[in-house]
Amino acid sequence: MELCIIYHSYSGITRKMAGKIRDSCGGDLIEVVPLQKYNTLTAYTMGCMRARNQECDPITPDAIDVSHYDLIVLGTPVWMYKPTPAANAAVAALSGCSGKKAVVFATCGGKPGDTIPLLKKALVEKGIDVVGDIVFTKADVDNPEKIQKLLSLVSSAGGLR
Ligand SMILES: Cc1cc2nc3c(=O)[nH]c(=O)nc-3n(C[C@H](O)[C@H](O)[C@H](O)COP(=O)(O)O)c2cc1C
Repeated sequence: MELCIIYHSYSGITRKMAGKIRDSCGGDLIEVVPLQKYNTLTAYTMGCMRARNQECDPITPDAIDVSHYDLIVLGTPVWMYKPTPAANAAVAALSGCSGKKAVVFATCGGKPGDTIPLLKKALVEKGIDVVGDIVFTKADVDNPEKIQKLLSLVSSAGGLR
């Protein structure tokens, strides 16, 4: 079972979680990075506005072929109760998705809003079967039981190395 872990991370929390999945389950890690870097001011102004409008940022890599993977894990920080513009762009960049499975996760301060439903909808529209989802808040991002729950979701979806 080939696993691909795709994520965006602005301040490192989602990256850390993606790394835990990689360490436990194997697979390839793909970090999507906005071409135009945010700072605190632009993240909370332009970034939040773009997230609210469900826009895509130009990112690198700009194309992600998942045809040779069986399971995709997609992680995003929550911005303005939604996936980040870079995470939206990651979904848009996917090709070879038909018949693939996915697990989605989000990290946030405590108010995920409609981040998970939006991500799931976008992936389903690409022909992907979303088999699990989980949200980490600031309070439980280091909780071993919660992390284990994510790892179990990924391994039961077929991502065990
Ligand atoms: C621009 C911006 C907007 C945010 N909006 C939300 C939000 O709507 N709800 C929430 O719970 N947390 C929000 N947060 C907190 C982040 O989602 C949270 O810290 C996340 O774990 C950061 O992940 P990262 O370190 O991978 O970037 C926001 C953070 C930033 C920088």
